[in-house]
Amino acid sequence: MCGIVGYTGGRPAQDILIEGLRRLEYRGYDSAGIAVEQGGKLEVVHRKGKVGGLAETVANLDIAGTCGIGHTRWATHGKPSERNAHPHTSCGGHIAVVHNGIIENYAELRDELTARGHEFTSDTDTEVVAHLVEEAYVDDLLQAVHEAAARLVGAYALAVVCDSEPGVIVAMRKDSPLVVGQGADGAYVASDMIALIDATRDVVVLGDGEAAKLAPEGIRYFSAFGEEIYEPKVTHVDWDVDLAEKGGYPDFMMKEIHEQPRVIRDTLAGRLVDGHLAIDELDLSHEELNLIDRVYVIACGTSYHAGLIAKNLIEGWARIPTEVEVASEFRYRNPIITPSTLVVAVSQSGETADTLAAIRDARVKGAKVFGITNVVGSPVARESDGVIYTKANKEIAVASTKSFLGQVVSLTLLAMLLAQSKGKLTTNQVRLLFRELADTAEQVEVILSDTAAIDEAALACKDARSALFIGRGMGSAISKEGALKLKEISYLHAEAYPAGEMKHGPIALLDDGFPVIAIATQSPVYDKLVSNLQESKARGAMVVAVATEGDEDIKQHADHVIYIPKVRDAFSAITASVPLQLFARSIAVARGCDVDQPRNLAKSVTVE
Ligand code: F6R
Repeated sequence: MCGIVGYTGGRPAQDILIEGLRRLEYRGYDSAGIAVEQGGKLEVVHRKGKVGGLAETVANLDIAGTCGIGHTRWATHGKPSERNAHPHTSCGGHIAVVHNGIIENYAELRDELTARGHEFTSDTDTEVVAHLVEEAYVDDLLQAVHEAAARLVGAYALAVVCDSEPGVIVAMRKDSPLVVGQGADGAYVASDMIALIDATRDVVVLGDGEAAKLAPEGIRYFSAFGEEIYEPKVTHVDWDVDLAEKGGYPDFMMKEIHEQPRVIRDTLAGRLVDGHLAIDELDLSHEELNLIDRVYVIACGTSYHAGLIAKNLIEGWARIPTEVEVASEFRYRNPIITPSTLVVAVSQSGETADTLAAIRDARVKGAKVFGITNVVGSPVARESDGVIYTKANKEIAVASTKSFLGQVVSLTLLAMLLAQSKGKLTTNQVRLLFRELADTAEQVEVILSDTAAIDEAALACKDARSALFIGRGMGSAISKEGALKLKEISYLHAEAYPAGEMKHGPIALLDDGFPVIAIATQSPVYDKLVSNLQESKARGAMVVAVATEGDEDIKQHADHVIYIPKVRDAFSAITASVPLQLFARSIAVARGCDVDQPRNLAKSVTVE
């Protein structure tokens, strides 16, 4: 989705802005632009396409100004084009604005502004902000942005510059993230901490309605009511410096897949103390946890699939009825929520609009909400009653891999905690499970050490037009994530079905060479799954089976077998997901796709 970066200080802004935009590229975008204040004038450059194109154009211009704003756009209102790329300017070009989010009442505002003589040069919702600020401006940009924002309905993170206040950037947000930080050479603002980490590790995450006024001499913070905040809360970012680099791997996705053993270890570190799970961030006593009688897991996309895995664990171990819902559905229905309902919101980015709306709704209805997120200080973390941070570190590739695994491990811990609190798991059982869970880090290393069978199966499937992923029980949830990974990065249509449902429709798809990818690991429903493979083979399908090491029988029922180490069924999602990630990536590479930045997708979906 869209990305914002801004800088004011002692150095030429253009290179800093371009570098910041490059850092935001992983979010997915279709155009980019910058506005730099120079000699009392705003120089605005936009380009459709990648930041590289913008950088080439900018390099040929002589823009030496030291204050500016930049943006990567992911189209919502108006198609991807140079005309719709941010920054957008007011009529005389005196005000420039970059914006993330959606202004819901933009059509009404646009009509009103047009009637008053404003001329629009784009199809975006954002441009109304530039014209509103222009109308409100007398001699104080901060005041003008406050007045303009009062007219906006929707979500926004804004950075605004004005040619009559050289060196000043006003940043303001509502429901869309914005972070601000003071570096050695100037002040920075961005929609994502990753754009700031070269400049500073100490950032202020603006709260809803809050604003910051950045100037070369320092940053001032203001509440939603315009009062100055003298001691803003500073968050320290402790990611690895090289996290944004590929570290020798051909793409970020591959690098992130290989980081997964580390993610498992870090997510588990310090979580078992004297046979008890230590998740103090949740801030609930065992007695309070014991009262929980219904769980909803709400999430989108891959995070939703982590929720499906959690349902099996929470119901299996803690015996608490658990529903998993996509957040965009949950928020618009009337789920049954009581004070003993626990809502678990899972979001890698911590800023997914639908998940946030669902959290707010659940809290209004009286539920306790736990967030599971990868981003410290993100809206999901701040708006939940308790939070578990997955220790994935920043994920750059648009398709989630390591953060998914971090979510599954965190949800596994939560399921064990609920079960222990309800007296369904003894201390010894928890110890044993925890040890086996920790062992999965090594088992994933084993999978990563030899990927020949995966690549071979991928090569056999790369020219298919469609693929079917099947599994039963835990395997059914895993297959959904496998299918999503494949379709999003290779553009090969893939569908996932519980294997027992094949006969009720999807079996009609099968003919010679149709790929059926089966999660055939050892589980209580293994034999049933094998019957489904026989049915598939009988119809000419090409079966790829992810199976447990040592299972020789499976070779009779599959054309390609990908062996993985033996784990208990409860932990099979952790191990079996890894070959499916590699399988999808291998097919995508063979089909010439950009695995890190698939078309039409964004890393964080901050609009509904
Ligand atoms: C797929 C993927 C998406 C996200 C979804 C939710 O690989 O990454 O499906 O899982 O957009 O995002 P978060 O987890 O940030 O709420």
